[in-house]
Amino acid sequence: MGLIMRTVYVNGEYVSEEDAKVSIFDRGFLFADGVYEVTSVLDGKLVDFPGHCARLRRSLGELAMGLPMSDEDLLAIHRRLVVENKLQEGLIYLQVTRGVAERDFLFPPEETPRTLVLFTQAKPLIQSALAARGQKVVTVEDLRWSRCDIKTVQLLYPSMAKMEAKSKGADDAWLVRDGAVTEGSSNNAYIVLEDGAIVTRDLSNVILSGITRRAVLKCARTLQMKVVERAFSVEEALAAVEAFTTSASGFVTPVVEIDGQKIGDGMPGPTAKHLREVYIAEMRKAAI
Ligand code: PDD
Repeated sequence: MGLIMRTVYVNGEYVSEEDAKVSIFDRGFLFADGVYEVTSVLDGKLVDFPGHCARLRRSLGELAMGLPMSDEDLLAIHRRLVVENKLQEGLIYLQVTRGVAERDFLFPPEETPRTLVLFTQAKPLIQSALAARGQKVVTVEDLRWSRCDIKTVQLLYPSMAKMEAKSKGADDAWLVRDGAVTEGSSNNAYIVLEDGAIVTRDLSNVILSGITRRAVLKCARTLQMKVVERAFSVEEALAAVEAFTTSASGFVTPVVEIDGQKIGDGMPGPTAKHLREVYIAEMRKAAI
């Protein structure tokens, strides 16, 4: 895709990205029958790798998809891709699908080999222009299915929501179900109230349990910040003093505008900035 060809991983082999191939009969291609993880890399090390592995296992389990490979095997593949691609900062994308089978709605036999693909994306994460200026979001109806807790590759609606946001001059979309914000198109959503309390949607089937969310909430609690996990409405978000999102690719990113209305003074807020710094420092220390 770029001038420099990456080395990617496909089903046991490390090959140049131009030689990587997956069958047209892959269940991921035909049915979006697969799950994924995105792990960030800082200083050439993996951020919260055990968290991503644990969530991958859970997603696979919910879809009755085994993966005959240990976490150590997965770690070794991630590390080799970091080395082969000289990745200092960026992301590693991992996808597992149910494998290749004749097109049929029924799942193929369990012994069907999984398709496993991983690739790197070099990208500045710490020096992020979006984090410096803060993002504008628009709210859109959450029209996804009701198992958003499973990290499936079925990302058409989040993609449509992001396109809608872009067409309105915004950076991203916040999804709204029954009047309450669930999460962002590819991140978890937070508001900060007048009394300093950080509010984010409680975990359930309508949001993805973010690996960054868990770490950031731990940082917030350690810093003696008040954290409330509950639903919040769009009206409450518009009246908040601050807002932000979290994800493996964006860490903590301030939100400065919702539906064209400034949040607080329309500048990245102190809570989000502080949490971003603390989160990055903690993750750099713990990365493997
Ligand atoms: N997105 N919610 C949704 C719907 C997501 O797609 C993501 C991650 C998150 C945050 O999860 P985590 O903190 O574990 O990254 C929440 C990834 C980064 C992506 O699709 O690229």
